[in-house]
Amino acid sequence: MGVLHLLFLTLSLTTMSTKAHNITQILSPFPDYTTFNNLLTQTKLADEINSRRTITVLVVNNVAISDLATKNPLSAIKTALSLLVLLDYFDGAKLHQLSGGAATTTTLYQTTGRAEGNLGFVNITDLKGGKVGFGSAVPGSASDSAYKKEVKKIPYNISVLEVTEPIMATGILSSSASDMNITAGLEKAGCKTFAALITSTGVAKLFQVAADKGLTVFAPSDEAFRAPNAPDLSKLTNADVVSILQYHALASYSPIGTLKTAKGPIITMATNGAGKFDLTVTTAGDEVTLETGVDSSRIASTLIDSTPLCIFTVDNVLLPPELFGKAPLPAPAAEPVMSPSHAPVVSSPSKAQFLRRLRRRCSLRLRHLWNLRRKVRRRNRVRQRTARRTVKSAPAPRNSRRLSKPYSPRQRRLLSPFSCPKSFISHQFFFSHLEFVLFFS
Ligand SMILES: *[C@@H]1O[C@H](CO)[C@@H](O)[C@H](O)[C@H]1NC(C)=O
Ligand SMILES: *[C@@H]1O[C@H](CO)[C@@H](O)[C@H](O)[C@H]1NC(C)=O
Ligand SMILES: *[C@@H]1O[C@H](CO)[C@@H](O)[C@H](O)[C@H]1NC(C)=O
Ligand SMILES: *[C@@H]1O[C@H](CO)[C@@H](O)[C@H](O)[C@H]1NC(C)=O
Repeated sequence: MGVLHLLFLTLSLTTMSTKAHNITQILSPFPDYTTFNNLLTQTKLADEINSRRTITVLVVNNVAISDLATKNPLSAIKTALSLLVLLDYFDGAKLHQLSGGAATTTTLYQTTGRAEGNLGFVNITDLKGGKVGFGSAVPGSASDSAYKKEVKKIPYNISVLEVTEPIMATGILSSSASDMNITAGLEKAGCKTFAALITSTGVAKLFQVAADKGLTVFAPSDEAFRAPNAPDLSKLTNADVVSILQYHALASYSPIGTLKTAKGPIITMATNGAGKFDLTVTTAGDEVTLETGVDSSRIASTLIDSTPLCIFTVDNVLLPPELFGKAPLPAPAAEPVMSPSHAPVVSSPSKAQFLRRLRRRCSLRLRHLWNLRRKVRRRNRVRQRTARRTVKSAPAPRNSRRLSKPYSPRQRRLLSPFSCPKSFISHQFFFSHLEFVLFFS
């Protein structure tokens, strides 16, 4: 129990220290930045900004951004705005103290993996007369975007500065992927099996339709389908295969920054009245993991992030508990899941998630024991009935001890509270305590 208490203590400490900033809230008191603020929310850049530390956001007022906002698709707007998010902390004072009067800094656009050449970098130049200019680092670009003022700073977590106009570079607005061929993109990225499955089952058509409004796909790599724990799809019904494929997609645009901030389970395209089919997300640094309750998978890479479509590759096939929930339930003694020495491995950042998983495991385990007990009892009744019939037809010995004989040694142990094996008693003891801790924490 000591280990568990220690674990809860560390978990509560980590939850307490993750107090994040909220860019939407920071900008909301300023009527000049409403367009900019709305665009950050629509493109989900707000989530990305909130999940990072040591960051500078260059904001542009409603007038200066109207051209960009009205003449371009959301995917292009997102690219342009991500050039205004610098992955370093700059406030007014620092801008005027750049060594050599200039600096090159990385932007959020660089992290998408789509930035060619210097497109993901911004040059800051201390110009004559105390002015500071921002411009793309692509050779030949002008430093047209001038620093105006500090809007808000929380040293050294986030700084918000106003600049005169968006930073532009040739080619920045031409990226368009909304009409891309999803299956072709998947094939190119080493997800041929997944691409073939979604095509043959017709799920690709559902994806293509959803892609206009918002779609996120977690495509397992070809290796994932060859792994020993991958499901044998040939043994499943067509409907189940479709459910599994839909389980690998969300009917919303959820880029990596949004997944990182997801609290609680997220529903998938497989979610319906008959099953939850949901996923939970755990984050450790930059690594994002999807948990199904049966297995989990790391997000390996971002294939496409182009509002409103996002495609990731994942290392494992995600197994929904609705279809595979009963698989990992071997005999009680052979299941080491809950041994206390195992508990510290759960270093997930969210206490709520950890508790939820623990509860689910407990209830599965209890249900398993309960079913076992019921099965044995039912057999017991049947045997008694047959025995009674035998008694009627033939005079049986009065003290019919043979009633208890047909049971296997394990069944007898389960039925008798006094001849329990040690492991069973310790399970009972462990769970009664665990329940106590769970429901009072
Ligand atoms: C940030 O603030 C906005 C508005 O105040 C709110 O709607 C949103 O939920 C907040 N985001 C987070 C991650 O707390
Ligand atoms: C940006 O800065 C780098 C490094 O100082 C320089 O090589 C590059 O030419 C600059 N780009 C522009 C457009 O000024
Ligand atoms: C800056 O971020 C750290 C880490 O998330 C946090 O502990 C700290 O309170 C933040 N600082 C301010 C002033 O909000
Ligand atoms: C998408 O690409 C696949 C092959 O990669 C092709 O068979 C299919 O016809 C394409 N779909 C569209 C709508 O172009």
